[in-house]
Amino acid sequence: MKAAFYESLGAARDVLQVAELPDPQPAAGEVRVRLAWSGVNPSDVKSRMGLRSKQMPFPRVIPHSDGSGVIDAVGAGVPKERLGQRVWLWNAAWGRPHGTACELVCLPHEQAVELPEQVEGEAGACLGIPALTALHAVLMDGGVAGKTVLVAGGAGAVGHYAVQMAGQLGAARVLASISTPEKAALAREAGADEVVFYKSEPLAERVLDLTKGMGVDRVIELDFAANSAADLQMVRTGGECVVYGSGSSTLELPFFPLISRNIQLKFFIVYNLARHDRERAVATLTRMLQRGVLKHNVAARLPLADIATAHEMVEGGRAVGNVVLKVG
Ligand SMILES: NC(=O)c1ccc[n+]([C@@H]2O[C@H](COP(=O)([O-])OP(=O)(O)OC[C@H]3O[C@@H](n4cnc5c(N)ncnc54)[C@H](OP(=O)(O)O)[C@@H]3O)[C@@H](O)[C@H]2O)c1
Repeated sequence: MKAAFYESLGAARDVLQVAELPDPQPAAGEVRVRLAWSGVNPSDVKSRMGLRSKQMPFPRVIPHSDGSGVIDAVGAGVPKERLGQRVWLWNAAWGRPHGTACELVCLPHEQAVELPEQVEGEAGACLGIPALTALHAVLMDGGVAGKTVLVAGGAGAVGHYAVQMAGQLGAARVLASISTPEKAALAREAGADEVVFYKSEPLAERVLDLTKGMGVDRVIELDFAANSAADLQMVRTGGECVVYGSGSSTLELPFFPLISRNIQLKFFIVYNLARHDRERAVATLTRMLQRGVLKHNVAARLPLADIATAHEMVEGGRAVGNVVLKVG
C-alpha cells in the first residue's frame, strides 16, 4: 500500500515521506479499512513536531487519527456483514503507530463507525476529533439545554461544529468569538446568534453587554492560556469553562475569582473519553448525520502526496476549517 510516514520528529518537509509499505492484515477483533480520506488535525502536527514528546513513540509513525473509507477485510470474531460498510474512524493514531495517512489501516472494530449514506467521505474524515470534541464539550455535565454558551473560535474545525451542536441540542443562545468577517459569516451560518471580534473588541466586556451583565453559562474554550482572564470575567457565577485546548503548556490562574464565584473548570482530551461518554457522543453524532443537520467545514482537499503542505497549513493556522487528504 501507499503510505505517508515519518521516522524522526521534525519539520513537515524534513521528515514526512510517501512510499510503498506492506499491506496490513486484520487481527482478531479488527477490521481493515481501505481509506478514501485522511483528516489532518493540530494534534497530528504537534506530535510530528515533537511538542508532545521529544522521543519517537514508535520507530515509524503513519500519522492521523481521523479518516473514512470502506471495510475490505475483517479479523476473527468480527461479523462478515461489516465487509463493504462505509465507515469513519476515531483514535486511529492514538497510542498506535499506524494511522490513516495511507491506503489501508487495521484497527479495533468499534473504532470504525458506520457512515450514513448521505454523508460525503471527506466529511467522514472530520468526525473523529473535531466533531466528537465539539459534541462532548456540548453534552458533558447535563448538556446545554436552555443555557447561554460562548464558543471560542467559532469558525475553527472544532468550534464550527460546537456552534451548530450547541444550537441543535437546545442552547438558549450561542455566542462565538472570531477574528475576521469571513469567520464571522461562517460562525453565523453555523447558527451563532452573536459574534464577538475577539482581536479588535474587548471580549469579556462585549459578552457581558450581550448578556445584560449576567455572563454565559458555559464557555467552550480552545486556548485557555490566552483567554482565561476573559473567561473568568464572562462566565456567570456557578457557570463552567470547558477547556479542550491551550496555546501554552503552563497556566497561571487567579484563585479568588474562581472560588468566590464557584466557577467550574473542566478539561478533557477527546482521545481519552470514558467509554460511556464516547458511546453517547458517537450515538448523538450518528443521529445528527442521519438527519443531515450538520454542515462540514472542509477548508482544503489535497492528495496524499501533498501531506507536508497539509501539515504546514494546519500548523500555520492558515486553513479555515478542516484539511483532508485524498488517499488512493
Ligand atoms: N482536547 C481535545 O481533545 C482537542 C480536540 C481537538 C482540538 N484540540 C485543540 O484545540 C485547538 C483547536 O483545534 P481546531 O482543530 O479547531 O483548530 P483550527 O481549525 O485551527 O481552529 C482554531 C480556530 O480558533 C481561532 N482562534 C485561535 N486563537 C484563538 C483565541 N485565542 N480565541 C478565539 N479563537 C481563537 C482560529 O482563528 P483566528 O486565529 O483567526 O482567531 C481558528 O478559527 C488546537 O489547539 C487543538 O490541538 C483539542
